[in-house]
This record gives sequence, structure tokens and C-alpha cells, in this order.
Amino acid sequence: MSNLDRDSFSSRFGVLVAVAGSAVGLGNLWRFPYLVGNNGGAAFIIIYLLFVIVLCLPIMVSEFVIGRRGRANSFGAIEKLAPRSGWLSIGVISVVASFTIMAFYSVVGGWTIYYIFKSFSNTLFVNDSQNLTLQFSAFIESPYLPTLSHLLFLALSSLIVVAGVKNGIEKYSKLLMPLLFLLVVIVAIRSLTLEGSAKGVEFLFRPDFSKVTGKTLLDALGQAFFSLSLGMGCMITYSSYVKKEENLFKISIMGAGADTIFALIAGLAIVPAVFAFGISPSEGPSLVFITLPQVFAQIPFGRVISILFFIILLIAAVTSAISLIEVVTAFLTEELNWSRKKAVATIFVALGFIGALSSLSMGALPSLTIFGKNLFDLFDFISSNILLPLGGALVVLFVGWRLNGAELYDELSNGATIKFDRRLFRVFLFVIKYVAPLAILIVLLANFLA
Ligand code: PHE
Repeated sequence: MSNLDRDSFSSRFGVLVAVAGSAVGLGNLWRFPYLVGNNGGAAFIIIYLLFVIVLCLPIMVSEFVIGRRGRANSFGAIEKLAPRSGWLSIGVISVVASFTIMAFYSVVGGWTIYYIFKSFSNTLFVNDSQNLTLQFSAFIESPYLPTLSHLLFLALSSLIVVAGVKNGIEKYSKLLMPLLFLLVVIVAIRSLTLEGSAKGVEFLFRPDFSKVTGKTLLDALGQAFFSLSLGMGCMITYSSYVKKEENLFKISIMGAGADTIFALIAGLAIVPAVFAFGISPSEGPSLVFITLPQVFAQIPFGRVISILFFIILLIAAVTSAISLIEVVTAFLTEELNWSRKKAVATIFVALGFIGALSSLSMGALPSLTIFGKNLFDLFDFISSNILLPLGGALVVLFVGWRLNGAELYDELSNGATIKFDRRLFRVFLFVIKYVAPLAILIVLLANFLA
């Protein structure tokens, strides 16, 4: 395919909602609140914000530079900028990581579909956490329903991707992202107006640094990578569809800002409600599937809020899943010259199979266990704790040391047609050359040695 007929985003708003759509996902609604709960509240949030601003923003800018300069999928872009070099491993990691993330992401996406339907039945609305725990584990450990839900989720996401960048990804992000923000604000208002919710707000905003440990730092950094979709070529792929006139730095700030604001609103939608009923927010990953239904059972309009909430989860998950599928689709269409249909169909079959295995490993097929972890946990661990940080480190090293400074400045200032402050540029260079790789190295080593 020549560069001329390459699909692209049609407007700045389109770019923004697509980037925000990728970033805002289960990471914000499912992972962030329980990590905040597990790590002592406000102190975790402050550290998280620090990582987002100091480390992740520069990494996002770096991915944008690679994508738009290389004008190709994550593999092809590197091949253009540094032909036949070891840097191509960035492209390899991005394809592998997309697969490993989707292998568990799509399973959780399936759970959200099931819980939307479940919100219509009465069994979900009991004020009994043991009962809700049993319901949840009976579901995820059963053979058929979770697998079917996963396939349904995957089919939904694949259909959007097959329609193309402009007519699929951009179109649906434009529709779904504003809806998502609206719905989450409604749920946050409901949560904040419950009696007793003030304690939850205090937990979110009054820091207690005595709870901070090394593990808090690791969790915060890993979460920042995951939540901003960094380290696996998503942002490289998306920025290859961004027009030359757009200001990459501005888009990064807006994308990262939208993701962060959404995480905070999600925190406000979930944590105060949990506090209002005297339940601990440190319930871990089951917080949204077990703890929240218990809250919904006790509040006026609980059923409506429950339906809305699981629809929110679904929308957030779909707009992220499409970015993961697009990484591999772009690779297959551009590097192997496959048609978009053939690429997405192949990905659907492959992911359908791997995701089914990961879902079955939660209970129906307990022998699917490697290194003491079932496949689901293993895919989560390999991607978030190894591939993302590794990919992120390679990206900043590549942009900081391999691309030359003039080239980099040229891309960020759109060929000197927009202003990009020289001092800011120097700070940026310093961060991507030294600070970010070192910080990531420490995280990786700490994970490795722990
Ligand atoms: N950022 C997404 C979320 O928060 C997950 C994701 C990670 C999407 C990496 C794409 C790439 O749920």
C-alpha cells in the first residue's frame, strides 16, 4: 500500500478521542480504583500523577514522534527510521504485547457484557459479599459463558477495526467517548451524594505517606504505563495516522490529561460509594464485580446505576481493545500486504483461541498453569510487568539516542512552523535520554528481584 492512500484520522477531535479512547479503559475503572484502595489512597495518587507527568508524558511524545515520522505501523516505522537495526525489536514487542494484553483484556471485556445482562436479574442485588463472591467465581470458572462473552466482545471490537481508521476507529470513538464521560459523571454524582461518602473523598485526597513502600512505586509506574497505553506501539500506530499540521506535544498533553482526569472521576465514582457502606476499598481486582454490586444493592436507583456502570466498563474496554487490534492489523496489512479483512479475521481467530484458553485457565481447565500462574494471570504479568516497561525503555532510548536532535526538533515543531520552546526541548531530551530509561530499569530490576 503506498503512503498516499493510507487511511488517517480526519480531524484533531478525531485524533484526541481515539487516543483518549485507547488510554481510558479497564485500567482506569477496574485497575486504578483497586490499586488506590490497596496502596493507601491519596499518597498513591500523588505518586501516580508524578510518574505520568515526569516519565510517561515524554514517553508518549516519543511514541508519537516515531509514528508520525515513520508513517507506518510500529514495525514499519522503525524500519524506515533505522533500517535493519536491532531497534526493530520495538516492533516485535508491540505485536507480541498486543496479543498478550488482548488475551486477558478481552476476557474481562466479556465479563462486562455478562454483568450488563446480569444487572437485569435480581440475583445480583444482594447485600451479601459472600454470595456475590460465589456468583462471580462460579461465572468466571465456568466453561462456556465467559468464553462466549469473550468472543462477543472480540467480535464487537473487530467489527469496528475492520471498518478502518477513519470510518471505524475514529467514528466510533467520536460517538462513544463523550457518552463515556457523561455516564461516568452521572455515576460519580450518585456516589458523591450518598450519605457517608465524604470519608471516601478524604481517602482519595488526604495523603498518608506512611503507607508508601517500594511496591507502591512499582504499582504506580506499572499502572501509569498500562493506563496510558504506552510501551507497545499503540501510540506509534495511532500517530502514524496523524496529519503533519497537528501539534504532537499538545495532543500528548490532552490525551494524558483526559486519561488522568477520567481515572480521578472513576475513583470518585467508586471509592466514596464503597466507603459510604463501610466496605473496604482494598478488595483487589474483584472490587468492581463483587464490591460494587453490593453497593448497588443498597442505593436508590441501584439497578439503573449498575446497568450504566457496566455499560461504561464495556465502552471503555472496547475503545481500548480496538487500539490493540489495530497495532497488529496495521502490521499485517503493511508488512505482509494482507487485506484489512483478512488481517482482522485472522486476528479474531487467533485471539479468540488464546483468549478462550486464558478464560478456561481460570477454572474449567486448571491444568493450564505455567510457573504457578494460570494463563490469565500469566498474560497480565508478562505484558504489564515485562513487555510494557521493556518496550517503553527501548522507545525512549531509540528517540533519545538514535534519532538525531535536529530531526526530533523538526518533528515536534512541525518543521519549525510551530513554536516549541528550546528549554522545554532540552528538558524533554534529558528525561528521555537518562531519567526515563533509568527509572524503568529500576522498576524492571525490582520486579525481577522481588
Ligand atoms: N490503556 C488501556 C486501559 O487503561 C489498556 C491498554 C494498554 C490499551 C495498552 C492499549 C494498550 O485500559
